[in-house]
This record gives sequence, C-alpha cells and structure tokens, in this order.
Amino acid sequence: MKKIILSICIAGLGFISVSAQKSIDQKVTELMAKMTLEEKIGQLNQYNDDITATGPVTKDADKAGQVRAGKLGSILNAVGVKNTKNWQDQAMQSRLKIPLLFGQDVIHGFRTTFPIPLGETATWDMNLIEKSARIAATEASAYGIHWTFAPMVDIGRDPRWGRVMEGAGEDTYLGSLVAKARVKGFQGNGLGNIDAVMACTKHFAAYGAGVGGRDYNSVDMSLRQLNETYLPPYKATVEAGVATFMNSFNDINGIPATGNKYIQRDLLKGAWNFKGFVVSDWGSVGEMIPHGFAKDNKDAALKAIIAGSDMDMESRSYINHLEDLVKEGKVDVKLIDDAVRRILTKKYELGLFDNPYKFIDEKREKEQTNNLEHRRFAREIGAKSIVLLKNQTQLLPLSKTTKKVAIIGPFAKATVDNHGFWSIAFPDDNQRIITQFDGIKAQLDKNSELLFAQGCNVNDKDTSLFAEAVEIAKKADVVIMTLGEGHAMSGEAKSRSNIHFSGVQEDLLKEIAKTGKPIVLLINAGRPLVFDWASENIPTIAYTWWLGTEAGNSIADVLFGKVNPGGKLPMTFPRTEGQIPIYYNHYNTGRPAKNNTDRNYVSAYIDLDNDPAYPFGFGLSYTSFKYSDFNLSSTELQGNQTLNASIKVTNSGNYDGEEVVQLYIRDLVGKVVRPVKELKGFQKLYLKKGESKTVSFNISPEDLKFYDEDLNYDWEAGEFDIMIGTSSADVQTKRVNWEK
Ligand code: NOJ
Repeated sequence: MKKIILSICIAGLGFISVSAQKSIDQKVTELMAKMTLEEKIGQLNQYNDDITATGPVTKDADKAGQVRAGKLGSILNAVGVKNTKNWQDQAMQSRLKIPLLFGQDVIHGFRTTFPIPLGETATWDMNLIEKSARIAATEASAYGIHWTFAPMVDIGRDPRWGRVMEGAGEDTYLGSLVAKARVKGFQGNGLGNIDAVMACTKHFAAYGAGVGGRDYNSVDMSLRQLNETYLPPYKATVEAGVATFMNSFNDINGIPATGNKYIQRDLLKGAWNFKGFVVSDWGSVGEMIPHGFAKDNKDAALKAIIAGSDMDMESRSYINHLEDLVKEGKVDVKLIDDAVRRILTKKYELGLFDNPYKFIDEKREKEQTNNLEHRRFAREIGAKSIVLLKNQTQLLPLSKTTKKVAIIGPFAKATVDNHGFWSIAFPDDNQRIITQFDGIKAQLDKNSELLFAQGCNVNDKDTSLFAEAVEIAKKADVVIMTLGEGHAMSGEAKSRSNIHFSGVQEDLLKEIAKTGKPIVLLINAGRPLVFDWASENIPTIAYTWWLGTEAGNSIADVLFGKVNPGGKLPMTFPRTEGQIPIYYNHYNTGRPAKNNTDRNYVSAYIDLDNDPAYPFGFGLSYTSFKYSDFNLSSTELQGNQTLNASIKVTNSGNYDGEEVVQLYIRDLVGKVVRPVKELKGFQKLYLKKGESKTVSFNISPEDLKFYDEDLNYDWEAGEFDIMIGTSSADVQTKRVNWEK
C-alpha cells in the first residue's frame, strides 16, 4: 500500500513512478550490455543540425552516416516533423536503433511567442509563467522537439549583459520561484506525456556574474556568495524534478564550469542528488583550451567527463577522444556508463523506445501552427508583463475616441523586433506578429485617426525621417513614441557597454517633445536601459520589454485601459552605466549614504545620486494603493515560533487593479554582514476600486537562514526588520527580536 501511495505522489509531481523507474533501469542495463564502447560514447555526442545555428558552426562530411553508425545521441536545432523524421529514420538504421533526442532553445514560446522571460517575470505571477511554459512545450513537442534548453535561471545583476533577457532578473527568491514554475510548465504532467518536453536548467553555474557584464566572461566569487545568491534557483529546479542541466561557458574561481567537478559532480549530482544528465554548452568542452585549462581536445574531453559533463554539445571532443582515453586507462569506463545511463533513462522516460516517432505527427503539428487559444493567452500575459514607470499627468489610459493619435518610432510597425531575441524564426513571422500600429488601430474608435511616422531606425545615425515625424506629431492630440532595442541587441553575445537608446532615438524623442504634444513613451527592450533624459522630461513611460506574437494587442490593451498595468520590475534600473552593478539587496557598508544626495565620505559617487532610476519591485498602476494597519503578531519571538505580519491594502484610486505586496527582511547583525533587505515573500492581489484586503505573511526561522563563512546554513538570534510595501524602495518597517 505504502509503495502505491508513494508512486502516486511522485507521479503527481511530474516524476516517473518508482516501479516504472525500476523497469526503466532494467531496460537500460540490458541495452547497455549490448552496446560497444563506441556506441556508448556516441550517446554522449550532440551535433547541430545544419539548418540554423546558435553558435559557431562545424561542418561534418556525413552527419547522417554518423547517426546510422550510432555515433550521435542527440541533435539540436532540428525543428519540425519533416526534419526530425528524417533524422530519426537514420537512427532507426543504426545497429541498436537507439532513438535520437531533439533539443531546441524554446525560450519564450514556440509558434506563439510570449514576453521574454525577464518580461514575464515582471508579472510576478507563477501561474501565468507556468502556463506560458506549458503552452511552449505543447507547441514545441508537436514539432518533434523533446527537450528545451530552458529555463535559464542565472541571477542577473548587470544589465550590460545581454542575456538578462532570458532570466528572471536579480533576485534569488523570485528567481527560484520562476525557475520552478518554468520547469513545471515545460514538463507538465511528466515525461512520457505527449505534450511534455524535458526542461534544461542553465547555465550551471553563475554564468550571469561574468565580470563587467561581458558575455562568456570569468566569475570569481566567494563560495558563500555563490551558495547564497546564485545557486538556489538551480537547486530549486532539481527539487522541481528538472530532467537535464546545461553547464556554462564561464570559469568559476579559475575552473571552467564544464571542467568543474565541484560544481557538477560534487554539488549537483552529489549533494543535490540530481538524477538527470548534464549537457555542455555549445562547444564549451573544447573551449577549455582557449580558457587555458586543457591543452587540446583530448585533454578537454578527459577533464569534462571527470567533472561530470555527460553530453558534449558540438565540440566533438568526446566522440574523437573518449574511446582512446578509456583504452589508455585515463578515464574509468564507469564514468562513461554513468553518463550513458543518465541519457538513455531520459529517452526511455520520454517513451522514445516504445515509439521513436512519438512526437512526429503531422496532424498535431498542424493543429499547433496557429493555436488561437495560445494567442489569447499571449495577449494576456503580454499586457500583464508591462511595467508602468511614470504616469505623472494621468495621461494613461487613453480614450479610444481621441481624435488623432500618432505612433512614432522604429517599433511602430516592427514585427520580429516585437518578438525579441531567442525565438525560432518561422517564414510567416511577419504575418503573424501583431504590430503596435495594428494593435492600437484595432481598438481606436472608427471615427478616430491613427497617424504613423517611423522617425528613425533603431541603430544608425540617419535623421532624415525626423522632419516628417515632427509634422505628424504636430497634427496629433497625443503621440505614442515607441523606442528601444532591436531584437538582436540583447541575448547571447549581445553585451553592451552603452545601454542608452541606440542610434538617434533619443534625438528623435527630443524633437517630438519640442512640439509640446502629450507623449506616451513605450520602451521595448530585452534588458533595463538607461533613459535618464526621458525620465526627467517625459511624464508618461511604460516599459514593454519584447512581448512576442501578440505584442500590439497587449500594448493596446494597456494603453486604452482594458488592462490596468500591474507589472513590477524584476531588476533594478540604473541611472547610468556607471552605477552598474546595482541591486536592491546590497550590503550596508561601513559608510552608507544617509540619503540620495549624501556624498560626505560615504559609499557613493560624487557625480551621481545614490538611488537607482527605478528600484527592484517597482511598477505603477492606473489606480493607487494605500497601505495601512501594519501588524506583527509579536515583536519578541523565541525558537521555532512563527511570526505573522499583516497589512491592509486599499485600492484608493479610480480603477480596479492588481498590486504585488512585497515582504522584505533585514537581519541587523550577523557573523557575516547581511543585505539591507531580502525579498522573502509576495502576494499578488486584485482589488476592485474602493476595495480593501488584508495580506498576511508567516515568517519562520527558515526565512532567516544564511550561509556563514564555513558554508553552514543557519539563522542567528537577534534583531530583524520586517518590511512590507509596494516596491523594494517603498516599505513600512517594524522591528522584532528573535531569540533561539
Ligand atoms: C549557447 C547558449 O549559451 C545556450 O544557452 C544554448 O542553449 C546553446 N547555445 C544552444 O543553442
């Protein structure tokens, strides 16, 4: 009886039941007994299909022949039923007919694209985030894909790093929740279901902490910091049952992640008991040579397999050298067997041995080509991802009967720039993506007019379109300016030293502002940008990220008030690049600034205010929320007691709306210094106009724990500030004393 209950519980969490796993283990053992060493190493080898490339390409003379010879376990970037079928046909001609795994970067949707992950995180809504991943998996699996290289859970504190767009921002607590939600979404009711794909937690580890925000760069940090800030989101995905991990390009404290035994074997597969497999990042096994950690590809293969990298993406080090390394006695065959077992187990769990063509179904692919229900959801999550930064004159929401509205800027009629980076390019993208112009036009009253001028390009010096844009602005009652980053300006290898508006966009904004017309500024980007001039001079600003297929409709829903924006920033927005890295949960230092302009021998810049442009957790609404009656169940606590903190939130404005109520804690004195605040909880509320609700949080000693110098994870007695508010910079505070 106990066994049955355990199986059911585990299956409910999206795992394979205990008894099923046992028989998979047996099957893997039987299959491995038939495999030659060469065939085993073949399973550890992954190549790119030649159609698209997401890294530097290596051409192979006869890839299909290699598949038939059993020298390949997986292919990435082979999208679509026709293509995946061709490859699987080759695998079925190999001696043991071991099916191929098809992996793909499904980062923010597939046929239907959603806001970039950083944008989705601004919803602070785990149900929406999980659903977005669920839909992405449903569509991708219908196109023959078994495995997405997502979620990226790297903590990102540096907006110069282009890959912050793929993650959940700067916070460990929020990032861990988002990471779990995405894994649950991708893997659905468990591997083996037709609409579930394997998730892949990446990039292990601390890839987001590269020096200077430069991609692929080195990471050097204390193990304490690594454990406290960077590792929890990865660990959260292991707890959520993630099937695979990808290691990272960076070195960590001098050891490249791919060759890092502590990270992969000791921590992930050891202490965390991760049972899935680890794929290298693109070519990262071979990249240990330029890192200066391996002398050649053979040495790289040796170091990577010992460290715990199971599958070699694209570097060809394993396929070319592992056999010799085993024969020379340098690599224990047990390491190869362990890696092969992990990979074959996932192929069994997916059901590929029962039917290698399981995910190859033209009918299903067709059904998911344009799924209207998925589009409806994309519109909803798009609108909920938008963060309203300024609405000083209550210009928003706009009236649909405004006589003349102008939309000006390079994003007005853009398509793929609304998609954002890391979406798979389909030939019909331009017809499927709703432009901002079209979305707005569709909602504007039929007696109103929507004027348009492009004004400039995203990233060049051409001002020849300015004059026309100014004329158009002059004719309008209100101008929507839409500026930002082109879709390939954030993402992998897209670090920027200057994150102001590119090209002449800011000049265009200044010209249009001179007309005196009311302006709504929309900022489309994959990262926090610096827009200090706009912040000082334009009273109405909304951050729209890159919203995906339904971008134009989502934006129009917010502009005209169908959706009251409730997004909150998942990253701190710097005033200027010189403030980077900037994040809310910093230490206090011995000389903290007393206020925003304090520069008197304190930790500050002499030429810059101390606050960020917009703090973590910040975002406005068309309505206003009043916080009152902040209560603590006790201010003197002991041992394992639970502290209850509650606060009343009232919608005191004129619209129904959503608010994210945030709980932060500060440990005032510790044996290692503690951040000025740490997010420990939040609740998203929907309040009708005039309505009030009391939000309550339970806090236990578990929430007070931290890593000390020796990596002990515990809490200490003492005083704590309990803070609740609408953003990391706007909280009410009460102090408690908590004894052991
Ligand atoms: C390199 C990227 O770092 C990784 O995130 C991605 O999954 C692979 N390329 C495959 O495209």
